[in-house]
Amino acid sequence: MGIKFLGFLIASVLVAYYIYSPIPENVEEKWTLMLFSALFRSLGHVATVAEKLGFAHYMDVMMKITILEDTPPLSDEKVIVTDTEFNHVPVRLYIPKGQTDSLKRGIIYFHGGGWCLGGKGMRSYDFLSRWTSEKLNAVVVSTDYRLAPKYHFPAQFEDSYAVAKYFLQSSVLDQYNVDSSRVCVAGDSAGGNLAAAVAQQLLHDPEVKVKLKIQVLLYPALQPIDLDLPSYRDNENMPVLPKSLMVRFWSEYFTKDTSLKEAMELNQHVPEESSGFFKFVNWSNWLPERFKKGHIYTSPSPGRSSIGQKYPGLLDPRAAPLLVDETKLRGLPLTYMVTCQHDVLRDDGIMYVSRLREAGIPVVHEHVEDAVHGALTFLTGPFSFSVGQRMANNYIKWLNENL
Ligand SMILES: *[C@@H]1O[C@H](CO)[C@@H](O)[C@H](O)[C@H]1NC(C)=O
Repeated sequence: MGIKFLGFLIASVLVAYYIYSPIPENVEEKWTLMLFSALFRSLGHVATVAEKLGFAHYMDVMMKITILEDTPPLSDEKVIVTDTEFNHVPVRLYIPKGQTDSLKRGIIYFHGGGWCLGGKGMRSYDFLSRWTSEKLNAVVVSTDYRLAPKYHFPAQFEDSYAVAKYFLQSSVLDQYNVDSSRVCVAGDSAGGNLAAAVAQQLLHDPEVKVKLKIQVLLYPALQPIDLDLPSYRDNENMPVLPKSLMVRFWSEYFTKDTSLKEAMELNQHVPEESSGFFKFVNWSNWLPERFKKGHIYTSPSPGRSSIGQKYPGLLDPRAAPLLVDETKLRGLPLTYMVTCQHDVLRDDGIMYVSRLREAGIPVVHEHVEDAVHGALTFLTGPFSFSVGQRMANNYIKWLNENL
């Protein structure tokens, strides 16, 4: 009996030790987050082992969540949902049933998942798109771009751009009864990266006549050349998106070669001759004081840049929308930016806000003090967080007033 009890006690302590991770003081629902984080971490361990043993690529194992969460296109009493293709890229369309005669708004959405994971059918994205469509009387186009590791940059961007370009044709907007002066792009995380890149490229495309009214960037990734920003330092081991996973996502976007990931971990992947780009991500200039607290600026070193040289995509604005000069930012639409305090990507978003404002672009910046990365995708199911609900409500309310 004594031995069994002792065994039970030791097992409990080990489980608690495994589940426990420090969560910032102001984040609510700590235990739910810890549990999610522990499960996600376990999957990461399985993926690492499977990869080491040569069974599967790391991301193929991580992709199991997306597959498990996949939902079919199901219409309900408020929204007609169908899967189709725009310019040969799969999309899920959400067409609201209410107010049939009135012109609708249009939202082109790009899901997150580090360019490797996620999909239009994933429960959380399906829920968000359906809800947006209903609340805003908007046609929502949820884009299924190709993913790494099978496809690398620029495939993800090109698919996203092809969908935006297709939808922005006057004939197509007419077909869906969408008001061409009320269309936006939106995306979260890697999808925010794609939305920002698409919005920039559309500005210089002579074939596209319809202008975006708004770009919505929800905790986006905007640059891969400095991965040692204060937000990366402060949130290195934060649940949902630790630095190691973000670095992996960035490197997988460009290549399967893991030596890029290793160089990125050391922040030594950018060649000396490209150091002119650092001015765009110099957080010493672009971050407000309160986000710099306690950190001293050091510029990335070119120690292992021979690997970086092989991937010019690292400096390509279609992958890194922050790395353009001001002339390329002028003309961008009204911007709704969400950043989360406990997020490695926080400073990417904040620096883009500074740069957009300097270029004269109106920006509404919602900085969420009590959120970790990805909060908006935790709206349903066993892991739903009130902060995600609050962010979604604010986002819909703002769009309702501005789109
Ligand atoms: C970054 O900005 C600081 C302060 O303005 C400056 O001293 C430093 O030289 C800059 N570094 C780079 C790489 O642009």
